[in-house]
Amino acid sequence: MFAERTNWNLAGNRLSEALARHRASGKRLFDLTASNPTDCGFEYDSEVILAALRNPATLRYEPNPKGLESARLAVTEYYSALGARISADDIFLTTSTSEAYSYVFRLLCNPGDELLIPAPSYPLFSFLAEILDVKLVRYPLVYDHGWQIDFHSLQNAASPRTRGVIVVNPNNPTGHFVKVNELQALNDLCAKHSLAIIADEVFLDFGFSGAAPLTLAANSQALTFVMSGLSKVAGLPQMKMAWLVANGPATLKKQAIEKFEIIADTYLSPNAPVQLATPTFLELRSGFQKQLLARVRQNLKELDRQLATQRNCSRLQVEGGWYVVLRVPATGSDEELALMLLETRDVYVHPGHFFDFRADGYLVLSLIAREDEFAEGVRRILQLASTS
Ligand SMILES: Cc1ncc(COP(=O)(O)O)c(C=O)c1O
Repeated sequence: MFAERTNWNLAGNRLSEALARHRASGKRLFDLTASNPTDCGFEYDSEVILAALRNPATLRYEPNPKGLESARLAVTEYYSALGARISADDIFLTTSTSEAYSYVFRLLCNPGDELLIPAPSYPLFSFLAEILDVKLVRYPLVYDHGWQIDFHSLQNAASPRTRGVIVVNPNNPTGHFVKVNELQALNDLCAKHSLAIIADEVFLDFGFSGAAPLTLAANSQALTFVMSGLSKVAGLPQMKMAWLVANGPATLKKQAIEKFEIIADTYLSPNAPVQLATPTFLELRSGFQKQLLARVRQNLKELDRQLATQRNCSRLQVEGGWYVVLRVPATGSDEELALMLLETRDVYVHPGHFFDFRADGYLVLSLIAREDEFAEGVRRILQLASTS
């Protein structure tokens, strides 16, 4: 009855089963995979958020494939604060970054066409690609006192069926930002081989250096699609509001926007109340981002403090984002270690292979977990690592 693309293995894996057992047991869990900002003790201005959703204009239906202009103008202001001039005409509102990806995959790829994705990176892509009949080909990021794109491997990964290169800026979970020289090399490669750049910038505002981040939204040297949204920017994933910016050489950009209009008009996904509230939600972002960055900095400091007291584990350098990668002795598989942490120390972490790390010896920790939970979770991880 069903399409082959839905032949997923629906049985849980050992870690998810162990997690379900742990939750059912009612024991305290030190969850270092936290990714839901509404569940991490941040303060939100609930009055302002709820008032913004009660806009009387909500009672009118104004279909527009790009989304309401007032919300798109607010997105242009977001970019101008980052030093990028974007026209509201080049923006499409979507209900999630995932939906924005699906528009881009549909625009670029015939069934079986390929997109290049970074490894390690976020596991969302494989599901999206499967659902949309796109083949993903990995290109490695290399770590040598910080992460960088391996351009030699990137070039080798391209084939006649490649349609685009996905970059996550900064990447999840490595926290690596795209640098000016990397963007130049990407532009050269993509322009030469007629590839699009697909940039996921959901964590762009969460750099640790305080320097203004480099957004690809204003990049016009190659056909470029940039995605972000309120999930991370304003810590409001429940509002389901994201956007897609199209840029590039004039003719290509015009054609892409015309085609997106058809795709977006078919769904008209974003709802009126959230679109109307988006300017307010974006205004609230600095209050959220300050709290989140304070949390992340504190957790990193605590991690470094604890790491300094032992010799078995270290962490990889990280420039931004919500995660940090812990290097642990690779005495067994990362999954075994994550299972042992859960079953014997009540700590839940993601093993590196979940993010496509090719070797064992990596755990990914969420830096947005509450400070006390994070500190105790790290203490337990280091304790186990010192005895294994
Ligand atoms: C790199 C990256 N892109 C996209 C998303 C999903 O964003 P959205 O909620 O807008 O679909 C996430 C969520 O964690 C992410 O880590």
